[in-house]
Amino acid sequence: MILLGIILLLWVCSIRAAGARPPSYAAWAADSAIARGQGNGLDSNGQPTVSYEHGEFQWALRLLYERTGNKTYYDYIQKGVDNVLLPNGTVGGGYSAVQFQLDPLRVGPSYTATKEIKYKTAADEFRAQLDIHSRTAQGQFWHKIQYPNQGWLDGIYMGEVFYAAYTQMFQSHNQSAWDDITLQFTLMFNNTIQTFATTNETYLGLLYHGYDYSHTAVWASPDRGHSPEIWDRALGWYSMALADTLSILPSTHPGHKSLLSILQTLAPRIAAAADPSSDVWWLVMTEPGRTLNYFESSGAAMFVYALLRGVRLGYIQDTSGVLVGAAKRAHQYMVDNWVVDHGNGTMDWTNTVLVGSLDGNGDFAYYVSQPDDLNDLKGVASFILASYEIEQLPVDY
Ligand SMILES: *[C@@H]1O[C@H](CO)[C@@H](O)[C@H](O)[C@H]1NC(C)=O
Ligand SMILES: *[C@@H]1O[C@H](CO)[C@@H](O)[C@H](O)[C@H]1NC(C)=O
Ligand SMILES: *[C@@H]1O[C@H](CO)[C@@H](O)[C@H](O)[C@H]1NC(C)=O
Ligand SMILES: *[C@@H]1O[C@H](CO)[C@@H](O)[C@H](O)[C@H]1NC(C)=O
Ligand SMILES: *[C@@H]1O[C@H](CO)[C@@H](O)[C@H](O)[C@H]1NC(C)=O
Ligand SMILES: *[C@@H]1O[C@H](CO)[C@@H](O)[C@H](O)[C@H]1NC(C)=O
Repeated sequence: MILLGIILLLWVCSIRAAGARPPSYAAWAADSAIARGQGNGLDSNGQPTVSYEHGEFQWALRLLYERTGNKTYYDYIQKGVDNVLLPNGTVGGGYSAVQFQLDPLRVGPSYTATKEIKYKTAADEFRAQLDIHSRTAQGQFWHKIQYPNQGWLDGIYMGEVFYAAYTQMFQSHNQSAWDDITLQFTLMFNNTIQTFATTNETYLGLLYHGYDYSHTAVWASPDRGHSPEIWDRALGWYSMALADTLSILPSTHPGHKSLLSILQTLAPRIAAAADPSSDVWWLVMTEPGRTLNYFESSGAAMFVYALLRGVRLGYIQDTSGVLVGAAKRAHQYMVDNWVVDHGNGTMDWTNTVLVGSLDGNGDFAYYVSQPDDLNDLKGVASFILASYEIEQLPVDY
C-alpha cells in the first residue's frame, strides 16, 4: 500500500515535471515558439525566408539572452541567421534591394545581435538599400515600391530599428544618418497624427495607419492624405520602434529629444485609449465598441512593451503610476484570456490578427474582415516583449 502510494506520488510528480513550464511568461512563450520551430529563418516549407516576424522574434530572444545569459536563445538567433544567409555572407531567402521594401530590413538587427563580424556583409547589403530607397519629396522612405509616396507606421519599426542598430555599430559618428532616422519618425508623426474626429470616429490624438504624400491612394484623406482608421498593430509597431530606437540613438543628438517628445505625447493617449471594461485595446481604435470590432492581442502586447520600456528607461515620467497601472492590467487580461496552457510545458497565443494593410481601401470593414491566427509570431513575439518588461518591474509596483 505504502509502496503503491509512493509509486503514485512519483508518477504524479513526473507528470508535473513533464508539464512544467518556466515561471517566466517571456521564457514560456519563447520556448513554446521554439518548440514549434517558429522564427528560425525558414518558411513552413523549410525554405529560407527574410521575414520581419522572424526579426521581431529574434529581437525578443536577444533581450531574453541578455537578461538570462541562456545560450539557447543566442544559438537560436544565430541558427535563424545562418539559415537565410548564403555562404559568402550575402542575404538569401528571396531578398532583393530594388523592391524597396522596408519589411525585410527588420531582420537586420539579428546580424548585429550576435556581434560577429562575419555577418557584416549582410548588414551592409541591407544598409545599401537605404541609400537607394525611394523617398517622398519630404524624405520619407516609401513603404514599398508598389506603394509610391506612402509612409506606413509599420515601416518605421521595420526600417528604422535596423538603421539605428547599424549606425550604432558601424558609423556611430554619422550625424546625417542619425538626422535621417529622426526625420523618418517625425515625418510619420506629423503626417498621421489625428487632429480632429471625423464622422463616427473617436478622437484619440493617436496616429492613423499611414499616409500618401501624393494624396492619390483611394484611402487618402483629401486634406492631409492620411488613411481612415487607427489600427492597433500599426500604432504598436511605431510605439515599439520609438522605445527601441531611443535606447540606440545617442542622447547627445537632437533627434533624441524629438523622439522623446513624440513618445511622451503618445504614451498617455495610448493608456487612455484602453477599453475601460477589459483594459486592452480595440483592433480599430477609432471605432470602439462597433459591431465586429474586437480586442486584438498583438497591438495590446506591443503597447505594454512600449509603455513599460519607456518608463523603465526613464523616457516617460509616470509619477502617478497611470502608465504602469494600465500596462499591468492589460498584461493580466492577456494571461487570463489569450494564453492557453497545454499542460505539457507549452502554451498557445490567441487573438492576433493575421494582416492589416493599406493595399485596399483601409476602412473599418476591411480591418475587421481579416482572420485571426493562432500562435501568430507577430503576436507571440510581442507577448514575449511585454512579459519581458512586466517581469522587470520592481516588486513594489
Ligand atoms: C535555457 O533555456 C532553455 C529553454 O528554456 C532551457 O531548456 C534550459 O534549461 C535553459 N538553460 C539554462 C542554463 O538555464
Ligand atoms: C554570393 O553568392 C551568390 C550565390 O552564389 C552570388 O549570386 C553572389 O553574386 C555572391 N555575392 C558576392 C558579393 O560575392
Ligand atoms: C552617413 O549616412 C548618410 C545618410 O544615410 C549616408 O548618405 C552616408 O553615406 C553615410 N556616411 C558614410 C561615411 O557611410
Ligand atoms: C513636424 O511638426 C512640427 C510642429 O508643427 C514642426 O516643428 C516640425 O518641423 C515638423 N517636422 C517635420 C520633419 O516636418
Ligand atoms: C456612421 O455610423 C452609422 C451608424 O452605425 C452608419 O449608419 C453610418 O454609415 C456611419 N457613417 C460612416 C461615414 O461611416
Ligand atoms: C503540447 O500540446 C499541444 C496541444 O495538444 C500539442 O500541439 C503540442 O505538440 C504539445 N507539445 C509538446 C512539446 O508535447
